[in-house]
Amino acid sequence: MTLLTTISNESINENLQKRWINAEIYTYIGGVLISVNPFRDLGIYSEEILQRYKSKNRLEVPPHVFSIAESAYYNMNAYHENQCVIISGESGAGKTEAAKRIMQYIAAASVGQDDSIQQIKDMVLATNPLLESFGCAKTLRNNNSSRHGKYLEIMFNNIGEPVGAQITNYLLEKSRVVGQVENERNFHIFYQFTKAASDEQRDQFGVQGPESYAYTSLSRCLDVQDMDDIQDYSHTIHAMQVIGLNAQEQNEIFRILAIILWLGNIQFVEMEDGNSSIADTGVTDFVGYIMAVDSSMVEKVMTSRIVETQRGGRRGSAYDVPLNPAQATAGRDALAKAIYNNLFEWIVSRINISMKARGNTSQIIGILDIFGFEIFEDNSFEQLCINYVNEKLQQIFIELTLKTEQEEYIREQIQWTPIKYFNNKIVCDLIEERRPPGIFAALNDACATAHADPAAADGSFVQRTSNLSSNPHFEARGAQFLVRHYAGDVMYNVAGMTDKNKDALIKDILDLIASSRNQFLQTLFPDRSDPNSKKRPPTAGDRIKSSAGALVNNLMKAQPSYIRTIKPNQNRSYTEYDQKAVLHQIKYLGLQENIRIRRAGFAYRNAFEKLVERFYLLSPATSYAGEYIWKGDPKSGCEQILKDTSIAREEWQMGVTKAFIKNPETLFALETMRDRYWHNMASRIQRAWRNYWRYKNECARRIQRFWKNNKEGLEFAKFRDYGHQILAGRKERRRFSLLSYRRFMGDYLDVNGQSFLGAELRSACGLGAVEHVAFSSRIQLLVSKLGRSSKLSPRFLIVVPTTIYFVTAGQKDGRTQCTLERKIQVITTKAISMSILRDDWVALNCNASEEGDPVFHCYFKTELAATLLRLSQASINMSLGATIEYSKKKDKKAQIKFIKDEAVSKDDVYKSHSVHVASGEPPSSMSRSPAMRKPGIVHPIIRGKLIQAGEASNKAKAVPKFSLAAQNLLANPTTASANEPASAPTNPSLPSPSKNLVEVKMYKAKFAFQGQEGEMTLKKDDIVELLEKDVNGWWLVKKDEQEGWAPNNYLEVASPKSKIPPTPKGVPLYPVSTPSTSSSTPIVPNILSSSVMADSTPFSSSDRAPAPWRKPVGNVSTGLADSIPTNSRTSRSLCNKAALPVSNKPKPAPPPLATKPSTPQGLTKPIASTGRYSRVGMQVNEHISTESSTASRQLSLAAVVRTCFLWSDPAHL
Ligand SMILES: Nc1ncnc2c1ncn2[C@@H]1O[C@H](COP(=O)(O)OP(=O)(O)OP(=O)(O)O)[C@@H](O)[C@H]1O
Ligand SMILES: [Mg+2]
Repeated sequence: MTLLTTISNESINENLQKRWINAEIYTYIGGVLISVNPFRDLGIYSEEILQRYKSKNRLEVPPHVFSIAESAYYNMNAYHENQCVIISGESGAGKTEAAKRIMQYIAAASVGQDDSIQQIKDMVLATNPLLESFGCAKTLRNNNSSRHGKYLEIMFNNIGEPVGAQITNYLLEKSRVVGQVENERNFHIFYQFTKAASDEQRDQFGVQGPESYAYTSLSRCLDVQDMDDIQDYSHTIHAMQVIGLNAQEQNEIFRILAIILWLGNIQFVEMEDGNSSIADTGVTDFVGYIMAVDSSMVEKVMTSRIVETQRGGRRGSAYDVPLNPAQATAGRDALAKAIYNNLFEWIVSRINISMKARGNTSQIIGILDIFGFEIFEDNSFEQLCINYVNEKLQQIFIELTLKTEQEEYIREQIQWTPIKYFNNKIVCDLIEERRPPGIFAALNDACATAHADPAAADGSFVQRTSNLSSNPHFEARGAQFLVRHYAGDVMYNVAGMTDKNKDALIKDILDLIASSRNQFLQTLFPDRSDPNSKKRPPTAGDRIKSSAGALVNNLMKAQPSYIRTIKPNQNRSYTEYDQKAVLHQIKYLGLQENIRIRRAGFAYRNAFEKLVERFYLLSPATSYAGEYIWKGDPKSGCEQILKDTSIAREEWQMGVTKAFIKNPETLFALETMRDRYWHNMASRIQRAWRNYWRYKNECARRIQRFWKNNKEGLEFAKFRDYGHQILAGRKERRRFSLLSYRRFMGDYLDVNGQSFLGAELRSACGLGAVEHVAFSSRIQLLVSKLGRSSKLSPRFLIVVPTTIYFVTAGQKDGRTQCTLERKIQVITTKAISMSILRDDWVALNCNASEEGDPVFHCYFKTELAATLLRLSQASINMSLGATIEYSKKKDKKAQIKFIKDEAVSKDDVYKSHSVHVASGEPPSSMSRSPAMRKPGIVHPIIRGKLIQAGEASNKAKAVPKFSLAAQNLLANPTTASANEPASAPTNPSLPSPSKNLVEVKMYKAKFAFQGQEGEMTLKKDDIVELLEKDVNGWWLVKKDEQEGWAPNNYLEVASPKSKIPPTPKGVPLYPVSTPSTSSSTPIVPNILSSSVMADSTPFSSSDRAPAPWRKPVGNVSTGLADSIPTNSRTSRSLCNKAALPVSNKPKPAPPPLATKPSTPQGLTKPIASTGRYSRVGMQVNEHISTESSTASRQLSLAAVVRTCFLWSDPAHL
């Protein structure tokens, strides 16, 4: 409304009318909600609509009463200030409806779901049907007119949960209990009760229909359109239960209602002497019965009054004065009104007990719903009180929105041009002032001077009103007087006013109640004024004045929100817009002035300290990491914040103690920035948390992987240690046997694997497909030739659990062919003989046979011995000595001598039954412990906020160095041959790409998603590749070569995409042969290709992806080719040490036969695919005798590939 081009009452009216016709009943003037009663259900209070207003500022959503409730709740939590919602408007304009909607919103939107909080919410909502039944009635203006004022305060704890509530009740219109204007009704509860009472209640309290009682039937209105009293009764009962009224309390309440109804049926007849008598004593008898008093006493109290004479201030004699029917009726009605009034107050206090705060209260939201301003044909004391309270509320509105605001601008030295408005203080003074006496004071005086006779008192009051005529808002008109209220002129009738003001029950009636045996009735009248007290008991006028004053004080302490309700017509019509009537309301509500001040004024102001406290986070000058760091005074802090947030200069002004912000939009912008700040902080924390999880998971994965691999490696290492134990202290060792990475892998010829050679050997030995080979190696067998000295000849040695095979290789039709030469049962082997020197000679002492004992040279002799011991359960003896004894033929023993000869530079030299060998490592040597890893080779986790920028990238710099080292190794002419034909593409055993297609999981975006830092922005239907699923609901996805996190519930499975796994760069796909290679048709065991493939997995030695959770792209394995450095042993000077005596140490027990993954298949898959170790093809620079046969030479040309575990760290090479 503040945007209207012309601001006049008429233009406001026109605007409201247009809206109202379009079912837009709400609009704002600044923060004030204007509501025009639609008189129909617009369906605008549903749960769905309510949700739309949650956490929204009022400019984000259309005007609504929910928005007022939201901002009150938000402001309470945000600023820690009590709030109040003041709802004003004339009777039937929609105040109670608005109040109920506010309660509905707060109950739904406030946090806290635990039982006690839910109970409070339920109770707050239940107060509505309960208090409406007892406190509302049909009037000519409104079918559900509030006949009392109510201020509901909901108490919240420091986290915004409702913990309790309290109701303050203002001035129930009790006169309605005993009589109503035609077509109006008594309070709803009487009709509900008389229509819907149970049979038991009807029996107990003699309840009949409403037509049977004078108090409910005389106004000839028993039903109300669109109101179902019977259904409402059940709502009332339910509300009583929710609030916690037990069955007995409920029963007593209904007893009281019955007493009132039956009291109203006591009729008086005039006797000849003019005095009254009871028309039907049956009624008084019944009243006596349900009141639990003596029925004769009821009769007496109804028809006579004890009058005490007073002499000189002392009590004199008491007389029993009979009453005429009019006086008797007044007495009866006084009793009925008092009982109902006290019952109502009891209910309110009982509700308050139930809703008592369950915890510490930090803030309060108050909702004020009072009786609206009203003008009837016959206006009496009740209307004066109602209209007075409305005047007071208008005062608050004027005070806070028109007067105080303008005064504040002046006080705070803000540039301001004053705006004129009508201040209704003059009307308030007219009614409440003591000096000169106002209307209430005049009524009190009249009551005091003529207390015995109500008519005389009224007359006295009329006289006094003449003194009020100096007030332009007052006019005395004989038995009436006119008050010019802010909302219209009201003519009040004086008759009965003083009596109503006096509002005191006569002593007889109080005695009657005191005599009741009904405890509940007595509790309704707790304190009786002292009859001897000289102090005048407070009149009704006094009470309403003081409670209105208290209310105003209370409201002034809270931050107010206003709802100004407007009634479009007097006929409850949803089509009629009575322009005149609305214009009148627009005028008296001061909407025009409200708009003017709002336009010129400032929407928001707050003390500098408060503003800084709320918004300091928005400026880097005032906050750092959430801490307040401003060193200057709050005012300069405020200015700094407003400057740093780029708020336009004309949007704010600094006062003396407060900062002023012109438009609400600016405040909302600040609030939004603040919310955003928290939001960002929350996202940062979430991101950090996600990173932390990733980091943790990755670390766990690495540890697991390391352990898994190491565990497998340990198996081999353990076996190696067993080998050491067999020889420990008895045989000198080769230096390279003691290398830390040397593990006993067993099947060096890959007979268990898929290689060509393996298959050849397997078939030569006649092994089944599943028969496990425990050991295989090339050896040089000592072959004796008739008449000539024995010579070394190459063989393949293959050991399966039961048998030892010796296989020769030869050429047939240009193809290599393996032939089984000899097989020996393991159990026939009695001893393994070795020398005590460094040499590699072994003799297997078997049962006597024509072929004699095999004697051979084997690099892996220790491993062979360990394997045989394990297979034989250590039943084979180890025989170590300076010579090897063996059977050359069945009965022909032979011996080989071992001589230390430092001149032998490489291995050992055999000649004529003696072997010359240089000194080796001491017999007690054990494998060296693994070398320390070089820092920088562990792939750093470099992404994520947990990691300091720069630190990770520094570590990552180690990578090229490592690659370089690997490249050099590859380039080493001793290990890699440049001459080697690049035959990898033609290698038949290389996996074809199609067989190795990886299925890439693709996902489709169901919705668009705006990602922030580190997150993936998605358009609907975008297709992304899933890289990683995180348990926290975020998935790492890849799109257009970009990676980022996306919420998984935005993604759905799309058809998978096949992708060729990245080919590792820098790794020869074909084994490079030793320099001695000359053959162009090498035998290529395909194990190499599979091991290379295995290296392409993430986290392999050469995984150089910038973050460990990233997929490696292309640049994978460096493929560290290596040669077993058997040829690089340093020769030692000849040392003719005496041969060590053969030790007779007991043989160590073999380790249990573990199912170690020693097969190449087993190795390539689980280990290499996850391996910290790289399983790479190694060129074995075997030292094959030059005397080898053609066939064996042929084989030696094809590099026999061994697999072994290596630390990928070059430090281990
Ligand atoms: N927002 C609304 N939507 C639909 N109907 C409404 C709305 N507000 C009020 N009404 C109708 O108008 C009637 C009167 O409203 P309500 O009882 O709230 O008036 P009031 O201002 O509290 O009057 P009083 O001062 O007499 O108590 C309601 O009973 C209801 O029928
Ligand atoms: Mg109301």
